[in-house]
Amino acid sequence: MKFFTSCAALIGLLISGTHEAQAIDWSEVEGKSITLFYPAQMSWELVLTQSEHGGASKFKDGKGCRGCHEGDEADSGNLLRNDKSIEATPIPGKPGSIPVTVKTAHDAERIYVHLEFAPGKQPDAGMDKDFATKVAVMIDDGGVEQAKLAGCWVACHDNVARMPSAGDKDTTKYLTSSRVAMSRKGGEEIKPAAALAKIRAEGGFLEYWQARLKPGAAPEVVDGSILEKREEHKAPAVTAEAVETDGEWAVTFSRKLKAGAAYKDIVPGKTYTVGFSIHAGHTAKRFHYVSFEKTLALDSGEADFIAKP
Ligand code: HEC
Repeated sequence: MKFFTSCAALIGLLISGTHEAQAIDWSEVEGKSITLFYPAQMSWELVLTQSEHGGASKFKDGKGCRGCHEGDEADSGNLLRNDKSIEATPIPGKPGSIPVTVKTAHDAERIYVHLEFAPGKQPDAGMDKDFATKVAVMIDDGGVEQAKLAGCWVACHDNVARMPSAGDKDTTKYLTSSRVAMSRKGGEEIKPAAALAKIRAEGGFLEYWQARLKPGAAPEVVDGSILEKREEHKAPAVTAEAVETDGEWAVTFSRKLKAGAAYKDIVPGKTYTVGFSIHAGHTAKRFHYVSFEKTLALDSGEADFIAKP
């Protein structure tokens, strides 16, 4: 009998695959509350155009998005969700924002990012039949120009799918550095493979993690990079655990601090830019909530989130 019980325990461990995370008692870890808001179709190009966005010129002078907007995310989300001038296809009844508590930790091997949030009363948009809720993290280590000041916006262009200049194309997120030329409508022509390989080798890509959530089931996890397009890795290095209790999710992402060349090495003494997104109410693509640029560091420093052992 003893043999069978320990076998079952071992199999349980193998199935969960993320036994390290269970060692952390998150109720003991200090959290920081942030607000993710609905950004409508505010593209990188719009945000950089002074006649369309009052912050454009100061941003170009080096003032980050949060420098003007932090604390007002809920108001911005309420404004943008129904503003026909900036949202071509509003989802009736969509809440404007979602508060999220972020906790981080690390051990000798791995980084852990723990998010607690309640999607709230969400209308069913019917875009993603399988998953009502998906949560993602985007990371830069200084390799991507302006990511430090603008976070996720460096990848959000006017010609990305369902954005104003998309036409009938299904373009994913991309970085300006991957395009031959940019205009108010974004950039179409992609640089040659050799040029992209050089940018990538120099760290000029964003890393992202996503957990697709279903109550009572293990999350489906993907990770990948963004340069000329958003590209999923075939086998993710990232794992996630997710638990839903009375409409509130607790999701813990984890990966090795050094997960290989396709990932950003996470090392002490360096400050990382992170951004978060949540798709709620069966949405897909741009119909998500996002954060402004935040910072993460290991052990100590000035960052929003200090991952401690
Ligand atoms: C110097 C201050 C400043 C900076 C920096 C700035 N903005 Fe703004 N932003 C404004 C002002 C003022 C408005 C409202 C008037 C307008 O749209 O021009 C605004 C409006 C917005 C809105 C519409 C929602 C709302 O509450 O009005 C979004 C979204 C937005 N900005 C995103 C960004 C992003 C993304 C960045 C960084 C890439 C950024 N802003 C940088 C000042 C700024």
